[in-house]
Amino acid sequence: MARKFFVGGNWKMNGTIESVKSIVDGLNKAQLDPNTEVVIAPPALYLLLVREHLKPTIEVAAQNVFDKPNGAFTGEISVSQLKDSNITWAILGHSERRTILGESDAVVASKTKYATDGGISVIWCCGESLEEREAGKTLDVITGQLKAVSEKLGGAEAWKNIVVAYEPIWAIGTGKVASTEQAQEVHAAIRKWLKENVSESVAEETRILYGGSVNGKNCKELATQPDIDGFLVGGASLKPEFVDIINSKQ
Ligand code: G3P
Repeated sequence: MARKFFVGGNWKMNGTIESVKSIVDGLNKAQLDPNTEVVIAPPALYLLLVREHLKPTIEVAAQNVFDKPNGAFTGEISVSQLKDSNITWAILGHSERRTILGESDAVVASKTKYATDGGISVIWCCGESLEEREAGKTLDVITGQLKAVSEKLGGAEAWKNIVVAYEPIWAIGTGKVASTEQAQEVHAAIRKWLKENVSESVAEETRILYGGSVNGKNCKELATQPDIDGFLVGGASLKPEFVDIINSKQ
């Protein structure tokens, strides 16, 4: 089964009402490859604005979601609130939340389980730091993160609603993109891990995205790799070149 190319735009904590409207307008007018699935993740404050104005062929993601039902959880957003607002995806496990907000593998795994059980699809992120890469621990780190989420999910079913984003921390926002070989090597290792620890069909069907300084220039070469099924884009998703990234398979 061919995996549909997937491009996510993670706006992080950027934008104003005016800039959000202008990016949405640009995407609505652009010619986007119909063979690419596109998901945009604005800051929580702008989720509804984006959903209201963005063309329906593009889905919208939250950058986080909590693993409890509605109630006394100040500052959090629930799965049912996302569904109520027609927000169908969430990014979970991003390294900025793991490192700056202190989210552990267990917290990320719990949120991922809660979201997928509740009908929200998840862009689940993993990745190693520069120190870990230099110490030769890249695959240990990634497989540790995979193991935590996989055990919590407890079987193949939930993986239908998950895309994996491999984002080496040293490549995020640094302009230092992983080489096609470095990215392909880790993507192939993730697919192998899924095959050996979840199932052959989950390994075959799960999209594995690369994230970290992807731009309009380097996307085409990365997209040629057999195990790179798309991108999770930060800085460049706020710029017109995001359209080139969406169309990188053309
Ligand atoms: O989630 C996307 C990301 O962390 C990569 O950011 O700015 O390097 O494309 P950037």
